[in-house]
Amino acid sequence: MYASDDKPKPRTAVTVPSLRQAKNEGRRLVMLTAYDAGFARALDAGGVDIVLVGDSLGMVVQGKSSTLPVTVADIVYHTACVSRGLRSALLVADMPFQSYATPERALDAAAAMMGQGGAAMVKLEGAGHVVECIRFLVERDIPVCAHLGLTPQSVMKLGGYAVQGREGAAAQRLLDDALAVEAAGAELLVLECVPTAVARCISEALKIPTIGIGAGPGCDGQVLVLHDMLGLASGHRRPRFVKDFLADGGSVTGAVKAFATAVRDGSFPDAEHSYE
Ligand code: KIV
Repeated sequence: MYASDDKPKPRTAVTVPSLRQAKNEGRRLVMLTAYDAGFARALDAGGVDIVLVGDSLGMVVQGKSSTLPVTVADIVYHTACVSRGLRSALLVADMPFQSYATPERALDAAAAMMGQGGAAMVKLEGAGHVVECIRFLVERDIPVCAHLGLTPQSVMKLGGYAVQGREGAAAQRLLDDALAVEAAGAELLVLECVPTAVARCISEALKIPTIGIGAGPGCDGQVLVLHDMLGLASGHRRPRFVKDFLADGGSVTGAVKAFATAVRDGSFPDAEHSYE
């Protein structure tokens, strides 16, 4: 039994409006990927704010060489698994390659991810025609997370997984795209593999929170792929921004808590895990 003042306080559920509130209050957001109920439970217990069912599942769970083969059915299945393990964290589901080629296709895919999968928000990569899809979804009450910088679904067009926005014109284009996705109604923006100064400038220009992955400490939150932060070898070269938190954390729960603490106190990512 607990004395009344010893009782653990239940964590308040993270909601879509609470994301902007966190930014306004200067609270950094902690995000990790998960693909099943067991790890989802560990992330939720470790105080993670946002859990993403990323299409990275194609690489880290299915063993494929890119995210392109992942289907809507795959994401719906894994999102439903993860949702059973969560109590407080906000659940975001990734829209697979070409599932948002048109606004109508995007609506069908997002409806399945929310209706059958239990997601609270969906994530789309890129700007251009994607801005119109974001507006179409948001007008239909589907919360959206945008994703700019290195967008892995464009790997064939980009020719590899390189840092984006290094030159002046490319950095300006990234800022313009970020303002466009915010204006279209996105409530969250993932910035992947972007120089620290560029990501900081975008984060300062936006009212919505930015979540960095290889985008330096100036973002409003951080995300890593679960398998990467647990030090599991992926068969691919380990990107500079990845840190093994299991090495210090000692257990999965310890690693999740160490990541959450390092994000919240601003010690991760440091210069060693960021790009200039
Ligand atoms: O698919 C994924 O896991 C992602 C994260 C890397 C942000 O998009």
